[in-house]
Amino acid sequence: MLFRKLIAVTFAAFAVLSSFAADAPEKISVEPERILVAYYSWSESGNTKYIAELIRKHTNGELLEIKPKNAYPKDYNACLAQAQKEIQSGVRVELANEPVDFKKYDVIFIGSPNWFGTIAPPAASFLASADLADKTVIPFFTYGSGGMQNCERDAKKLAEKAKAILPAKAFRGASVREADREKEITEWIKSMVLPKFHDVVKKAGFYDYKLKSWDGKEVKTSDFKGKVVLVVNTATRCGFTPQYERLEKLYKEYHDKGFELIDIPCNQFGAQAPGSDEEINTFCTSRYSTTFPRMTKCDVNGDNQIGLYKFLKEETNRADIRWNFTKFLVDRNGKVVKRFESGDSLDELEKLIKSLLEQPKK
Ligand SMILES: Cc1cc2nc3c(=O)[nH]c(=O)nc-3n(C[C@H](O)[C@H](O)[C@H](O)COP(=O)(O)O)c2cc1C
Repeated sequence: MLFRKLIAVTFAAFAVLSSFAADAPEKISVEPERILVAYYSWSESGNTKYIAELIRKHTNGELLEIKPKNAYPKDYNACLAQAQKEIQSGVRVELANEPVDFKKYDVIFIGSPNWFGTIAPPAASFLASADLADKTVIPFFTYGSGGMQNCERDAKKLAEKAKAILPAKAFRGASVREADREKEITEWIKSMVLPKFHDVVKKAGFYDYKLKSWDGKEVKTSDFKGKVVLVVNTATRCGFTPQYERLEKLYKEYHDKGFELIDIPCNQFGAQAPGSDEEINTFCTSRYSTTFPRMTKCDVNGDNQIGLYKFLKEETNRADIRWNFTKFLVDRNGKVVKRFESGDSLDELEKLIKSLLEQPKK
């Protein structure tokens, strides 16, 4: 009897292992835009959302928050009661999301909190209705104290039509934000989930952005390849506005040596850049005789922020831009070297520009 049980267990283990071996491609080569990071998150702290955002950050995939048509009660006990009822009855909850065009993706990360030992109903509904035929699915979970429990098993059942389902990963919700966890989560994204994934994914870099000049012409950051570039969000009616004088001096002095400056007017701080693009340009060129390139007015924080600013912040301390005349200095290889706050020393800035100009392009 015991022997038969042992055989059965061994066989089951072998079946699981061999199904991974057969299913999981050795190396997934995928463009960032073909990765979907879908997640459901309920609690105020948004543990699953946090992991999803890290995955998005490291893969540059597209983020999708799964939203049930009827949101769960905010009250914990009421939520528990509703979730338990749904999970016990196996009902598929309706989702409020727009239909997803699955043709656009090859890899789908699916994240969910552990609810009663299994995948939460909204994430389950998403998987059940997804067209997974030629997709690689990567489940991830956060939990209170129970660990993975049946989350992986149930997600695999729901995703059985997928081309491959990679081993799931579960994270303890309460500690996902602890300092040393990001490294571990990043390691998971890079190595365990998709061997070589990170190496083959082309992560967006400084040279991947398009801007518009104040007079409507397309400006690509790739136009500045090989230069030392300073990106500044400016305003014309700010206490720091006189910095324009020093910026123009820097530009004059170092432009020939490979220094570039991108002026991005922004009205988000004290509404201190109120004019039209043309008015702002006239002000800067007549008052401060500026000669460096100026873009159209942009948002640098919030829902409408331009992609370049998302990138610059993620590459430095991730904090929102605090005020006008924050500066990002980029070296000749497109690496964001330093963020200077509005009042930081312009002498220090100049010193760093000088030393970066001396470094050759790799
Ligand atoms: C309805 C409900 C049921 C839960 N059931 C479990 C469970 O069975 N096992 C467990 O470890 N955690 C359980 N938790 C805790 C969550 O899995 C955990 O807090 C998770 O990190 C929350 O993720 P979120 O912030 O993305 O919502 C439950 C939470 C809720 C709200």
